[in-house]
Amino acid sequence: MSSHTGSNADVPGGNLPGKHTEAGEAAERSESPFADPGLPPHEPRVQDIDERAAKRSERTVALLFTVSMLATIGFIASYVIFPIDQYVYIWPLGEVSALNFSLGMTLGIALFCIGAGAVHWARTLMSDHELIGERHPIEADEPTKATVLAEFQQGAKESQLGRRKLIRNTMFGALALVPLSGVVLLRDLGPLPGDKLRHTAWAPGKLLVNQNTDEPLRPEDVTVGSLVFVKPQGLEEGTHDFQTEIAKAAVMLVRLEPEDIKDPKELDWSHEGIVAFSRICTHVGCPVTLYEQQTHHVLCPCHQSTFDLADGARVIFGPAGHPLPQLRISVNDDGFLEAQGDFAEPVGPSFWERG
Ligand code: FES
Repeated sequence: MSSHTGSNADVPGGNLPGKHTEAGEAAERSESPFADPGLPPHEPRVQDIDERAAKRSERTVALLFTVSMLATIGFIASYVIFPIDQYVYIWPLGEVSALNFSLGMTLGIALFCIGAGAVHWARTLMSDHELIGERHPIEADEPTKATVLAEFQQGAKESQLGRRKLIRNTMFGALALVPLSGVVLLRDLGPLPGDKLRHTAWAPGKLLVNQNTDEPLRPEDVTVGSLVFVKPQGLEEGTHDFQTEIAKAAVMLVRLEPEDIKDPKELDWSHEGIVAFSRICTHVGCPVTLYEQQTHHVLCPCHQSTFDLADGARVIFGPAGHPLPQLRISVNDDGFLEAQGDFAEPVGPSFWERG
């Protein structure tokens, strides 16, 4: 705390004419170092006194909003124009994806121009009078609300939104267009699946090929007690869609005694007791792998759903929602096992059947 008395006599030159005020203010500041310095005198901007300058600012703001609109259109066009695997050389970045570069640039310009337009508008055309806002209780009373409303209306008037129609229209255009960028990004979620998930690579006459040896199977290759994993003929490992297709078309073959098969339809779709079922668990799609010969049960290792292969692969335990789909099989003229067609129902988790 200062011990300074503030007397003019203590200030050098304090008693001289013309020095009194300056010295007094210095003394006051010394006593209260955080005194409110007050607002500088208001200086009108060139746009406040020159309508041509105001018009120039208006055109600048409109230009920025218009550039934003064009950039948004460019963003959307980029999606159509540039293939995903096209690269261009751009100094100093080097080789970059043409699509990503174009999307980034156009979206950046669109957002920047909206921001720059709004800032320029506020700095040059909206009212720049300093206002003092007093602190209020959080719950505003009616007169306060009326005051706020009046101030809002005054602000709207001072922003000249009604008068500067060019700014208003281009701003609405820019703000309306920019969300379209987000809509276009939904395209990255990929094409709609259509009915792809309802069909597999199985078709009439497709041979059942041993997944380990890549050899087509004859009935005598499937012995009692064994579980044979098969894939459709023509589905080659290493091809780009192999994983997608095998995830739907994976099948297991089991030989049962025909008299052990309880389900008449299952018996009808089998060949000499050889039954073919989808390996994809109907719970959440794990491959079913564990076979118990005595009971003819297969078990999914993920959540222990258990299916009875002698009874239409009915679920006898666990969270799976429905039986494993059966593939109808027969033997062709050359003695090889073949499919009679695709699965009659979607394979895998049962939610595909909903709706
Ligand atoms: S995925 Fe098979 S039981 Fe859950």
